[in-house]
Amino acid sequence: MGTITFEGKEFVSKEGETVLDCLLRLGVSVTNSCKSGVCHSCILKTTSEIEGKSQKGLSDSKKKAGLFLSCQQQVADRMEVFSPDANTLFIDAIIVDQKRVSDSVVVVKVRPLQDFSFTAGQFINIVRGDGHCRSYSIAGRTGDSELELHIRKVPNGILSNWFYDEQLINEKIKISEANGECSLTTEMKGKNLLLIGVGTGLAPLYGVVQDALESSIVEKINLIHGSFTFDGLYYCERLKELEQKNHSFDYYPLFLKGDEREGFIKGDIVEFVKKFNFEASNTIVMICGDPVIVKSLKQTIFLAGVPSRSILSDPFVSKY
Ligand SMILES: Cc1cc2nc3c(=O)[nH]c(=O)nc-3n(C[C@H](O)[C@H](O)[C@H](O)COP(=O)(O)OP(=O)(O)OC[C@H]3O[C@@H](n4cnc5c(N)ncnc54)[C@H](O)[C@@H]3O)c2cc1C
Ligand code: FES
Repeated sequence: MGTITFEGKEFVSKEGETVLDCLLRLGVSVTNSCKSGVCHSCILKTTSEIEGKSQKGLSDSKKKAGLFLSCQQQVADRMEVFSPDANTLFIDAIIVDQKRVSDSVVVVKVRPLQDFSFTAGQFINIVRGDGHCRSYSIAGRTGDSELELHIRKVPNGILSNWFYDEQLINEKIKISEANGECSLTTEMKGKNLLLIGVGTGLAPLYGVVQDALESSIVEKINLIHGSFTFDGLYYCERLKELEQKNHSFDYYPLFLKGDEREGFIKGDIVEFVKKFNFEASNTIVMICGDPVIVKSLKQTIFLAGVPSRSILSDPFVSKY
């Protein structure tokens, strides 16, 4: 048990409770999404001592300013916690385009209304007017002025159904700065890339493919896109076109359930990756999408001989 002083009021925690869970339970509104330390939407500020894991992935300047991930910090005996200046964490943006590309995926374009920069492969947190917040990966090239997002409608999902079902052009939202592991860096020069996306896990990798082809920083690029059903695959035509135009790029669309389809692979993505022929010692692997499959793919890739520092991933964790 411990006590949080937050904006002049005291809140008593239960045994082992995180700062986020304690404040939410006692009726304080704190932006949050994954509750796993991935999305960074739950940042608060403190002058008290905190655990290293609650600042994991934050920039040095944020660490110095006392910012921390409230979902990762257990309440200590006595903690003083503040709301950070929301204007430093979120900026205004507007939805400018919205197109369904399959029975379950909608492509949404968002225009930031203030300065914003990102590297292909990163994700942002989106906050709707009512405060609901979720993370979505950017499917565009570094420097694009509009952010393309691929959003899969999940059963009863609050934000994904809103994006899929409602007419949202000109809708105002807030977006966070961009974060994430799966981006190209100059250290990858001369390496090969193996990109594995599950469902809308294609989104960040689609941006990485475009950046990689434009910059020629890496040698060979293999993209494996897996889906449960054939209908869950999308952007197949444009990826096949990209493959035809670029000899350094190979694309493997794959689905698990349903009848065989010409030009597509039917099978389990983990089994496919186990048998996939690539140069483990010279390949950077990026894996995105469903967290359970991402975990199992990471193990498979590690056992294939890729060192863990060369395996990057952004699992699409949800707090439920
Ligand atoms: C780093 C990161 C990047 C992400 N990028 C993307 C992206 O590019 N595209 C994208 O579509 N999603 C992405 N997500 C997932 C996204 O943030 C939401 O979790 C997802 O859209 C569901 O939100 P919701 O509000 O619709 O569902 P919620 O209201 O949060 O959940 C409703 C129900 O749906 C279930 N549920 C939640 N997520 C899933 C899921 N993925 N599959 C099946 N059931 C689910 C929950 O268990 C719950 O029962 C990302 C997540 C993270 C952490
Ligand atoms: S990092 Fe805390 S809610 Fe996502």
